[in-house]
Amino acid sequence: MKIAMVGSGYVGLVSGACFADFGHEVVCIDKDASKIERLENGVMPIYEPGLDALVEVNVKAGRLSFTTDLAEGIKGASAIFIAVGTPSRRGDGHADLSFVHAVAREVGESLVNDAVVVTKSTVPVGTGDAVERIIAETGCKHRVSVVSNPEFLREGAAIGDFKRPDRIVIGAEDEWAREVMREVYRPLFLNESPILFTSRRSSELIKYAANAFLATKITFINEMADLCEKVGANVQDVSRGIGMDGRIGAKFLHAGPGYGGSCFPKDTLALLKTAEDYESPIRIVEAVVAVNESRKRAMGRKVLDALGGMEAARGKKVALLGLTFKPNTDDMRDSPAIAVAQALTDAGVKVAAFDPEGMEQARPLMPEVEMSASPYEAIEDADAIAIVTEWDAFRALDFARIKSVANSPLLVDLRNIYRPEDMRAAGFDYISIGRG
Ligand code: UDX
Repeated sequence: MKIAMVGSGYVGLVSGACFADFGHEVVCIDKDASKIERLENGVMPIYEPGLDALVEVNVKAGRLSFTTDLAEGIKGASAIFIAVGTPSRRGDGHADLSFVHAVAREVGESLVNDAVVVTKSTVPVGTGDAVERIIAETGCKHRVSVVSNPEFLREGAAIGDFKRPDRIVIGAEDEWAREVMREVYRPLFLNESPILFTSRRSSELIKYAANAFLATKITFINEMADLCEKVGANVQDVSRGIGMDGRIGAKFLHAGPGYGGSCFPKDTLALLKTAEDYESPIRIVEAVVAVNESRKRAMGRKVLDALGGMEAARGKKVALLGLTFKPNTDDMRDSPAIAVAQALTDAGVKVAAFDPEGMEQARPLMPEVEMSASPYEAIEDADAIAIVTEWDAFRALDFARIKSVANSPLLVDLRNIYRPEDMRAAGFDYISIGRG
């Protein structure tokens, strides 16, 4: 089966490479000529473990290719995926659908065969109807069915998530489309991955509901962590204790500096916009968005408090370890580190930072922060160290070395990657999240 993937960003590229690995013939299409040229030369536009090898194998096998030419790329494809970005529209938080609509138009104008058009981009309810209408308006004479097939992969674990998904959701309105989608995902059917067929609108909403629910879980445990600090309880025990209840589930209950990334912040806002449009408010999600925003700034204040407050902190130096919104990615979008760095530099604190993959992306977002070549260079003469992202590289820091280069052994661990008793035994002043 030939599959065309329009948009070679995170989701498009990972999905395209995985579909090729399933044995399909896949063409990844992108308007960005330099990105396509780099991909043709085996250079990945994003950092994702395992992706370069997967692309290389499938290109070599002749199953995966890249082009900037949409009309040529979609020729003969039975399934055409739309996987372009849907960023938050500046000012109002609505998802910006201009890229999705533009692709729909171009597909309609270029089609030379019947095809199922599949929206993989995260799009608000009703976008499938709009895509269908736009294609029809181009006067396209071929049979087209528009399907919603949201993607649930996580950055840093994208290939595993794609190939071993908890579920595949397909929102289709006719049997032909369902048949084509069964063929697209055949290896996963055979693997017994659960596949849920729904209406197109339900499928579109499932993606937003899932992300909003996960964001709510994180925000819930973050607020519990604050309470734990006040009452002298341990949030990790609370998290374990509630997570063992199968109805609650243990995942996404790690307290931290607030969620960031390319999905939760933008998707929760877009869901609220849909809720507003339909006059059906989701007050829980409104609270989640507000709490998470203020939490990121509060984390900066937590570091300032550790230094003895705003006044005492002025002129001191803080080392930030980890900048990306989570480990194993170079993605800085909505990373809590941005708000933490801002709060510190606003208070006249000198900030040095180290991140294994994210420093290049971080630099323009935090121009006042000095980027260091290693964690120990960042820590040199620091009055406090703050772990903002839980990269494995920070899980086994050399405590003796830190103590010999830092001004004082003060560690603020915003990800709870160390045990308070171990840190105390190692002679550190240790502050973490929700643990007394
Ligand atoms: C998320 C969804 O998990 C995925 O299904 C969807 O397709 C896209 O959005 P991603 O943004 O890649 O994926 O990262 P994820 O691992 O979900 O983490 C999101 C944010 O939540 C990160 O900032 C992370 O640090 C934070 N988080 C996650 C917590 O603070 N605590 C947790 O327990 C889990």
